[in-house]
Amino acid sequence: MNMAQRKDFLDFPPGFIWGTATAAYQIEGAAAEDGKGESVWDRFAAAPGKIADGSDGRVACDHYHRYAADLDMMKDLGLRAYRFSISWPRVIPDGRGAVNPKGLDFYERLVDGMLARGIRPFATLFHWDLPQALHEAGGWARRATVDAYVRYADLVARRLGDRVKDWMTHNEPWVFAFVGHLFGDHAPGVRDLRMALATAHGLLLSHGLAVPVIRAASAGARVGIVHNLEWVEPASPKEEDVAAARRHDGAFNRWFLDPVFRGSYPEDMLAWYGADAPVVGADDMKIIATPTDFLGVNYYTRRIIASDPAGRGTSGRSVFAARQVHWPFVPRADFEEWEMAPEGLYRVLLRVAREYRPGFMYVTENGTSLPDTVGPDGAVRDTVRLRYIARHTAAVLQAAGDGADVRGYFLWSFMDNFEWGFGFTKRFGMIWVDYATQRRVLKDSGRWYSQAARDNGFPARDANAPS
Ligand code: FCB
Repeated sequence: MNMAQRKDFLDFPPGFIWGTATAAYQIEGAAAEDGKGESVWDRFAAAPGKIADGSDGRVACDHYHRYAADLDMMKDLGLRAYRFSISWPRVIPDGRGAVNPKGLDFYERLVDGMLARGIRPFATLFHWDLPQALHEAGGWARRATVDAYVRYADLVARRLGDRVKDWMTHNEPWVFAFVGHLFGDHAPGVRDLRMALATAHGLLLSHGLAVPVIRAASAGARVGIVHNLEWVEPASPKEEDVAAARRHDGAFNRWFLDPVFRGSYPEDMLAWYGADAPVVGADDMKIIATPTDFLGVNYYTRRIIASDPAGRGTSGRSVFAARQVHWPFVPRADFEEWEMAPEGLYRVLLRVAREYRPGFMYVTENGTSLPDTVGPDGAVRDTVRLRYIARHTAAVLQAAGDGADVRGYFLWSFMDNFEWGFGFTKRFGMIWVDYATQRRVLKDSGRWYSQAARDNGFPARDANAPS
């Protein structure tokens, strides 16, 4: 044992990154300001009935105007890394035409603001806000969109690449492709398996094409992609449940990991999708597998999967013929059906390290939403979130100790924000936001996280306390 280690204290490796993450549409607001173009999320949220509380991202956290104060808070909390996303339609309003200089200026101010405060910028180029014009021209299924993205990536990397050295091409292609094009719960609200798979392929192809372009524009840059991964277990040893769990894993994890790290789609899933599988150009798979520097892992939940007795359907989730089972003794988040299962994060990190060997990894998102309120004393006592973060970061430490090269953790999210289809009904932040006044209040979990970042660790009892 290293004698420098503190007793009953979880010491993280030296240089471990304690960051937070956000996305442009969820926090910026200023949706039509300074020449910003329309994105699919602007259009989707404006349509009646799409967002749980009827809200939209037009103002959100007003971060476009308040970014300096937000960065001040980040600095005061001792957070030295920030994963943010760049809005494509803010930079190129219709996606492929004229550049909007004011859009680029904003991201330059933001990045300079981070650097001035000792915060390392981690930039995501696409976090779902596709220019509406590109969607109308056929979206990611069309090569023209892929090429437009590469031009956009080149433009941004040229402008910011001397200061930003950590780049992520895409955030969670699975969500944009499937939730947006098969389930229809996210923008652009399409419901079509073939379209979802073509979208996923376009996203992956554009990733592979952008990697060398970003490197050329940003000397010494580290480039990666962010996938949302789940730990999947069959609900029983029955053959059909094992097959269903493998299918869920195939659709969700392997469909995105195999192309990037092995240059192929998984055979079992190609067979399952049959004629709906994407059209793959001669060099596509080689391009998609262009070596990257790191993988960003977004982890929120573990899933217990059983086969669906209804069999395979033709729409929505039914195409996987797999259903989620909940064991009543597992705690769940106030969000969809997400189980709180930190051991799943440990297993995902080790599995990816062993089976895919991605340079190194970051946990680029992890967190939980709770129905937080500000108490009479002005505090937000979110002990459940505090424990959630302690347990998940402890799982990261355990995975690092057991051989996964994971170098940092980005808490989702820096502040409460517009949670896509759930609008403002979900709060994931370490900072509570009063949307009427834009007042920010540090939650208990945020205070804890700030201390953990400063100490590069925390007392073990924070992770293993019974509640
Ligand atoms: C992830 C998204 C992020 C946020 C969290 C809760 O899927 O990347 O924008 O919505 O979920």
